[in-house]
Amino acid sequence: MSFSAIVVAAGSGLRAGSGPPKAWRDLGGRAVARWSVEALAAAGASPVVVVVADDMRSEAQRALAGLSEVVFVAGGPTRAASVQAGLAALAQQGPDRPVLIHDAARPFVTRAHVQRLLGALTGADGAVLALPLADTLKRDEPNHLATPARDGLWRAQTPQAFELAVLRRGYGAWDFQTDPTDDAQVVTGAGGRVVLAPGDPMLFKLTYPEDFAMAEHLASGARQVRTGLGYDAHRWGPGDAVWLCGVRIDHDQTLVGHSDADAGLHALTDALLGALGAGDIGEHFPPTDPQWRGVSSDRFLAHAADLVRARGGQIVNVDVTLICERPKIRPHRDAMRARLAEILGLLEDQVSVKATTTEGMGFTGRQEGLAAQAIATIELPR
Ligand code: CTP
Ligand code: MG
Repeated sequence: MSFSAIVVAAGSGLRAGSGPPKAWRDLGGRAVARWSVEALAAAGASPVVVVVADDMRSEAQRALAGLSEVVFVAGGPTRAASVQAGLAALAQQGPDRPVLIHDAARPFVTRAHVQRLLGALTGADGAVLALPLADTLKRDEPNHLATPARDGLWRAQTPQAFELAVLRRGYGAWDFQTDPTDDAQVVTGAGGRVVLAPGDPMLFKLTYPEDFAMAEHLASGARQVRTGLGYDAHRWGPGDAVWLCGVRIDHDQTLVGHSDADAGLHALTDALLGALGAGDIGEHFPPTDPQWRGVSSDRFLAHAADLVRARGGQIVNVDVTLICERPKIRPHRDAMRARLAEILGLLEDQVSVKATTTEGMGFTGRQEGLAAQAIATIELPR
């Protein structure tokens, strides 16, 4: 289903204590807001409108760098005003397209939450993830501690999903005598039917300083680490240079293949595809397809890295071993690392290139061909 999302991140986080506004604090190596924006984009939201306080705009751009679906919008003085600013940015969207409204301060949203919510939206004007109350309620009244019944009470979380036109109408009809604290009440206030879908304790909102300690703890378990292995070999043939790990090396032979025969790049591309469980290089770039004849293999590797990012993931590190008697790899190793880091958008210390001979044994030892193997570690949202 095609849908958009608005992530409200323009609050000042007064209850969260000192430090930058909570959406832009670090949580496990990424800004709090980046967690939700990546997860919503990975779940299929397009665009993801991020509503940001004016004075945090450049910080927000830095914190969300590299995410292609993101549109920035200036926030307002209240949450409701910020949501309305986000809605204005979706002016070109179809009126019956769903929109998800989400608090940046709830970092642990997943694809499963989004699917559950969109499933519940069918046939309703809105859907809200909500949890039943588990604790006994108390109201501190003058001279009396009351125990209100908790039957039928729910804790509303975000994301909340609405048809765009329905939410627009709701905000149009709201009188603003009181400020709404979520969007479902705006839609129900205008007579809309909003349904509840099962919420998740993981969707708790970072509100008080102590919430951050719990989030830090959870952040370490919220990503899965995956590993993939790649292998490639090409035959030596007549030539005057060879491409290895994206670097051209003068040599008295070349590697023969359909593309540029860069076995290092091919092995590494397969390692990334393997970590994703996304097939192999031959499926993505069939050797029978004339458009890949003679092309530079940089493209194959960049494509695999794009697939990792499209899943909301990131590459942790990669390691390539080239297996050949000649040419000598050592003098080119730094250039190879730099080139791989450039293609993958990594730092050089996340990239390793090594080489070995097989002491004259086997096809590499007899110099019939060169082999490469690679391993890649990536991190994906669960
Ligand atoms: N929000 C917003 N614009 C505002 C106020 C709030 O976009 N003018 C966003 C916050 O950034 C947050 C979400 O609405 O992601 C939920 O609000 P809340 O938890 O109240 O955040 P803050 O208003 O930032 O915090 P506080 O109320 O403690 O100041
Ligand atoms: Mg607030």
